[in-house]
Amino acid sequence: MPFSEVNGSSASATVTTRAPGRVNVIGDHTDYADGLVLPVAIQLETRVTARLVPTAGLRVTSTAMDEERFLPPDRIDASGLAGWTRYIYGVYQLLLEVSAAPRGAKLRIESDVPPGAGLASSAALEVATALALCSLSGRSLPPVELALLCRRAENEFAGSPCGIMDQMVSACARAGHALLIDCRDLQMEHVPFRPRRAGLVVFDTGVRHSIAGAGYASRRCECEEALTLLRARSPRIRSLRDVTESDLAEAGALPELLRQRVRHIVRENDRVLKARTCLENGDATGMGRLMLASHESLRDDYGVSCAELDALVDVAVRLPGVYGARMTGGGFGGCVVCLVDDDRKDALRTHVAEAYDRQFGRPLRSLAVTPSGGASIL
Ligand code: GLA
Repeated sequence: MPFSEVNGSSASATVTTRAPGRVNVIGDHTDYADGLVLPVAIQLETRVTARLVPTAGLRVTSTAMDEERFLPPDRIDASGLAGWTRYIYGVYQLLLEVSAAPRGAKLRIESDVPPGAGLASSAALEVATALALCSLSGRSLPPVELALLCRRAENEFAGSPCGIMDQMVSACARAGHALLIDCRDLQMEHVPFRPRRAGLVVFDTGVRHSIAGAGYASRRCECEEALTLLRARSPRIRSLRDVTESDLAEAGALPELLRQRVRHIVRENDRVLKARTCLENGDATGMGRLMLASHESLRDDYGVSCAELDALVDVAVRLPGVYGARMTGGGFGGCVVCLVDDDRKDALRTHVAEAYDRQFGRPLRSLAVTPSGGASIL
């Protein structure tokens, strides 16, 4: 049952929910600049089985860790909590504030979204947890509100300064579609994902990033600094979304490094709009070109790629049947996403894994992606 129909139906004593991870097809490091993104939800997901208990607090177990963790109903400093439980604690606390969580529950978490791979495992955990707690309490929150609450949980309780893309797509995606999100006003458009006889394959470098890490936060600071400088010259610029190529061309508007950062955002927003047109027209060639241009921009202007991601993209785009490839998500490791002819997927996976092993001496996990639906109650 889709989220919008079941979320907040009358309270039940037990519930199982699911929320997917995502791969971003194009539009990275634009969400926190009020920009545009075009992710798809993937078939990897987090499941939460929850039941009401009479004593206050959450008792949480996960199949990955076999001990039970206790999360209190009162506000404590979340930095003392085990990493993965901070997302759950944040969601619980924020839902309690709006009376949309039970005081006491037992939660069991299962997930096949690999953590730290840039596939939004934390958003999947937050959204599945939020949906389960809402459902146990019989409260209704619209998916966009739920996504905003989950993002706040991540920002305020897990210390990750993430944008809104991951939570939105995990909560709101539609199977067979990509989700175009305007991160300024959170308007969404479900864009059918059916490039002719082609689909997505994701490769996981195995290089683990944390978006609470220094690189992501420092890009956000650079954006703040650039915005302050640009606004001083031109008050119509409310966020980096409003910057144009001609603003960037103005001599002395920004120091070179900041100019490159902002140029990425300006051009990436433009690529997202073009990508929507390509999807609408089933134009895999055009889409692939945009993906590669996006990778180059993230690598050269935004500085968030790494040797492993670059090597994977280089190998993949030379193979027959591959339209384009790019890093996806926050970067500094994580995954590459490729658009490839359906009948070349297996050959691509084998060839790229061999090349990766030769160069880095490490195995490479890959996945053919099925654009999946957003969170639901099972
Ligand atoms: C992470 C964040 C998102 C977004 C991407 C980069 O996935 O959670 O909000 O900023 O990085 O596009």
